[in-house]
Amino acid sequence: MVKIAISGKGGVGKTTLTAVLAHLFARDGYSVTAIDADSAINLPTALGVGYVRPLSELKDVIDERVRGPMGTYRLNPRVDDIFETYSARNEDNVRVLVLGTIEKGGDGCFCPENAFLRAILRHAIFRERDVLLLDMEAGIEHLGRGTARGVDLLVAVVEPGMRSFETLERIEKLAKDIGIEKVGVVVNKYIESARARELIRKIDRPVLGIIPYSQDFVKADLENIPPYKAVNLEPFAEIKDNLLKMVNGS
Ligand SMILES: Nc1ncnc2c1ncn2[C@@H]1O[C@H](COP(=O)(O)OP(=O)(O)OP(=O)(O)O)[C@@H](O)[C@H]1O
Ligand SMILES: [Mg+2]
Repeated sequence: MVKIAISGKGGVGKTTLTAVLAHLFARDGYSVTAIDADSAINLPTALGVGYVRPLSELKDVIDERVRGPMGTYRLNPRVDDIFETYSARNEDNVRVLVLGTIEKGGDGCFCPENAFLRAILRHAIFRERDVLLLDMEAGIEHLGRGTARGVDLLVAVVEPGMRSFETLERIEKLAKDIGIEKVGVVVNKYIESARARELIRKIDRPVLGIIPYSQDFVKADLENIPPYKAVNLEPFAEIKDNLLKMVNGS
């Protein structure tokens, strides 16, 4: 049982990594659930499933589950059935859910949509078996402190460049805010140079792996092919092994 959240600056490769890891875990026989918690929804495409309805759009369901009597709300609405009803499965049998837009507004925002989406995440984190992968932009802290407590590992995806490394600090803060202790780093779009190597040496968190820059990713995206069908999977397999080791504490 492994619960992994994947975060990082826009465009670094979070969705690509989530999709390829989902494929590799499924290939190993795990039952995999992948949740798109990013506002720029693209995980379903990367996993080769068509449109998946964002859960935030289920106004009637949200109303029915969250609203209590006289304008009150339930903070722990029932959501267990949502997982089967509003998810899709791809050809690897990976289950895909899309959270949709979460209203920003800090910890104090108790709008019904947020209560519902938080309940979905909590449910996923505490009930799901085998592998759970969360694709989430840096900035998910508005989901509230403690929502992701129970996530085993936060993977910060970075590109070898200063701007991306600065987000590492934000990710550390994010991990702290939502209560995740273990943070590992994946370096993506790596192009060999002395400067890049130096930057990587400075990362003071475990580096789970390095994925080279390759046109194969760009081509796969252009042709709308899931990345795991078009790119070298070796670096990803190594990342998968390393994150299992890190989760299991060795
Ligand atoms: N190693 C790589 N080499 C070259 N291109 C890559 C690599 N990894 C990802 N890409 C490309 O970079 C783009 C962004 O990747 P991806 O969508 O996975 O990032 P993201 O972090 O999820 O972005 P967003 O913040 O928009 O959700 C895509 O076009 C993808 O194909
Ligand atoms: Mg993405």
